[in-house]
Amino acid sequence: MFTIENQITGKIFRTDGDSAILEDALIHGLNFPYGCQKGFCGKCKATIIEGEVGYKGDVPNGITPEEVADGMALLCQCYAKSDVALAVNELDSVADIEVRTLPCKVQSIERLNHDVVQIFLKIPHAESLQYLAGQYIDLIHPDFEPRAFSIASAPSNDGLIELHVRLVEGGKFTHFIFNQLQEKSLLQLEGPKGDFFFREDSKKPVILMAGGTGFAPIKSIVEHAISTQLNRTLYIYWGVRDEVDLYMDLPMQWANENDNIHFVPVLSQPNKDWQGRAGFVHKSILADFEDLTGYEVYACGSPDMVKSAAKSFVEQGMIKDNFFSDAFVFAFTGKK
Ligand SMILES: Cc1cc2nc3c(=O)[nH]c(=O)nc-3n(C[C@H](O)[C@H](O)[C@H](O)COP(=O)(O)OP(=O)(O)OC[C@H]3O[C@@H](n4cnc5c(N)ncnc54)[C@H](O)[C@@H]3O)c2cc1C
Ligand code: FES
Repeated sequence: MFTIENQITGKIFRTDGDSAILEDALIHGLNFPYGCQKGFCGKCKATIIEGEVGYKGDVPNGITPEEVADGMALLCQCYAKSDVALAVNELDSVADIEVRTLPCKVQSIERLNHDVVQIFLKIPHAESLQYLAGQYIDLIHPDFEPRAFSIASAPSNDGLIELHVRLVEGGKFTHFIFNQLQEKSLLQLEGPKGDFFFREDSKKPVILMAGGTGFAPIKSIVEHAISTQLNRTLYIYWGVRDEVDLYMDLPMQWANENDNIHFVPVLSQPNKDWQGRAGFVHKSILADFEDLTGYEVYACGSPDMVKSAAKSFVEQGMIKDNFFSDAFVFAFTGKK
């Protein structure tokens, strides 16, 4: 095994030298930039400061002989032959990422409860979608206007995009998803989009507040934090109507397996057997944190929830710039 260190961020990961350096960086949750992953586009270019790397076969077209002579390498195609110190500008801003329109196939669609489905979309092998944990895509079908859905999976290069879709009463597209969309159906997606993404350069403890399927981008953020062994304390609050709406056990599992992760489910209309927290989710946070000055808050869910939280959290000390949110507003034009 070899150690790879990005000297710009100080992040370190291990590789067995059998996979390309980029592949292992992405598996370890590092946001190394990339495009084609085929050695053509040059987007994964990095400077090798120390150590030895090599290619299987010829040096790919995406890098010039002069760049190779200057110590540069294409990380999607090169393999470590020793411990390596390199310099890569990891992505930490959406401005660095290209928004793309890509075809995708429904790999699986599964009901998680009475009104939420989990969909896995497969991107063609030759393509890739780079995004930051927390961002969303527009799903495109010729019979409908595009609809926004947050990406629930952490960034990786496995070509799969996970979505959690809630059935909207009278909603055209979500009814289509629940009643007609099938495995192997073809769709298009456009993304990644949005400025709701996890800021990794901070050390502040984080409060993650989700309402309903607002849990999707929170899941992406937490899974990314776990895979990068981020040591910040994460407090996850998930507000839903009743226990049945907590459509995944994952947060409890994360909390049981990681000392730095805490989970509080909050039900707004619990049945009489519920022993846990009840009421509005943001009110539980206000009750648990007397002073929010030192925290970062990520909030995702209905516009009302996000708005009430922003106002009351600032009154309780939260610094406005430390509040990041995605409201599940909808752009219904009345057409299709
Ligand atoms: C950035 C972003 C990310 C999103 N991520 C997710 C996600 O991960 N999972 C998810 O389930 N949803 C998410 N949404 C919401 C999702 O886009 C809508 O629920 C969806 O577009 C509804 O489409 P529809 O065709 O079924 O409803 P439409 O036919 O467009 O609307 C029918 C009627 O339903 C009502 N309606 C529509 N959407 C909503 C809504 N969100 N809340 C309340 N009432 C509504 C309106 O009254 C509307 O007139 C996200 C929205 C945004 C903006
Ligand atoms: S990602 Fe395109 S050359 Fe490496």
